[in-house]
Amino acid sequence: MKNNRASFGSKLGIILASAGSAVGLGNIWRFPYETGNYGGAAFIFIYLGCIFVLGLPIMIGEFLIGRRSRANTAGAFQILAPGSQWKWVGRMGVLAGFMILSFYSVVAGWTLEYVFEALGNGFAGKSPDEFIQSFDTFSSNPWKPIIWLVLFLLCTHFIIVRGVEKGIEKSSKIMMPMLFILIIVLVICSVTLPGASAGIEFLLKPDFSKVNGNVFLGAMGQAFFSLSLGMGCLCTYASYFGKDVNLTRTAFSVGIIDTFIAILAGFIIFPAAFSVGIKPDAGPSLLFITLPNVFQQAFSGAPWLAYIFSIMFYVLLTVAALTSTISMHEVVTAYLHEEFKLSRRRAAWMVTLGCILLGILCSLSLGVGKNYTLFGLNLFDLFDYVTAKIMLPLGGMLTSIFVGWYLDKKIVWSEITNDGSLKINTYKLITFILKYIAPIAIGIVFINELLFTK
Ligand code: TRP
Repeated sequence: MKNNRASFGSKLGIILASAGSAVGLGNIWRFPYETGNYGGAAFIFIYLGCIFVLGLPIMIGEFLIGRRSRANTAGAFQILAPGSQWKWVGRMGVLAGFMILSFYSVVAGWTLEYVFEALGNGFAGKSPDEFIQSFDTFSSNPWKPIIWLVLFLLCTHFIIVRGVEKGIEKSSKIMMPMLFILIIVLVICSVTLPGASAGIEFLLKPDFSKVNGNVFLGAMGQAFFSLSLGMGCLCTYASYFGKDVNLTRTAFSVGIIDTFIAILAGFIIFPAAFSVGIKPDAGPSLLFITLPNVFQQAFSGAPWLAYIFSIMFYVLLTVAALTSTISMHEVVTAYLHEEFKLSRRRAAWMVTLGCILLGILCSLSLGVGKNYTLFGLNLFDLFDYVTAKIMLPLGGMLTSIFVGWYLDKKIVWSEITNDGSLKINTYKLITFILKYIAPIAIGIVFINELLFTK
């Protein structure tokens, strides 16, 4: 064991950093548009099931792999299963992280553009149609989104280079609570808009007649994406946890915070979207065309409030995205640093430059390159699909099989109970889910998607 390996400074820091990884564009941007795509409340219902039944036990599984091995995710499997092929689960995770970071940074770059729009009071007096128009013009512009993307990845890079405690932990501690408060304010604004009730109904009244295999795959993918699960991200973070951290409780806290923020984001987006007549299935643009309306309409009597709140919101959204990109970057950087004996700085540069390159391609695939498609998807959508709907659930499934079947029971027990010093009432349930429920449930969703859904 390396004693000089970095670690987190405090328990609160651990929860906030893990929650900082989980809470991000996945909650505020991706969750609402997937909910819109898949028809609303029924999707949310299945999503919640995926979070609590599959997500939390698998998160505990990832935590224990990371803390036990104290290594990057591919190294972790190698340490716990020497000489076996399990290291490929970790390697697949590293690849998934690299791919997600690339398209995620494109959207993170959009949030930066909106920070500057907000600063220049660019939203004032625009109609809903004009917001749609200006988003389309911006996102398909060949160079503007790319500049923001590069800037964003450089910010991520410099925090990563500063290290675990100073960089990751400090930024999460301040920004997460601020984001939370502002989100509550915006929920209140949104649900009081005229005609908001149709949006609330969309969120609360399930229509199960629309549910098919795709909805299950979508909900499962979103659950993994939002919890940062299935690619060794939380495993890498857990390698910096202390011996006294209660893994079960930490997983539960992260799950609750993450779910709460996603649902609240739904309560910002849908009431507002229905209020101004934006279709809920607008896709990735949904957040960016809906939200400016909330500011304009809810504060029409006090334009200065609209001004201040819109700046604050986009700044905090950027920060939420940043705490998530940091976590993905860290997975790949730690892997290159530890497995290939590169210096941390050099490893980080390789990740940053690689992601800039792929990110540029993803960004262009929404504009000038939109005719280049594979399976009918442009590169951006393809990366999103392959990672969230295939690689992450597959990684989660293999993680649960690894912990449930391969790993020595004594290791599992000693990590979950901290060598018997904690009494974990749900211990049996957690191990049962990891052994049977998670692999079977994920397997069924996959098979169903392959065989029966077009
Ligand atoms: N969970 C983050 C979000 O919701 C994104 C993210 C960070 C992520 N790390 C990850 C997604 C690892 C999948 C895997 O925005």
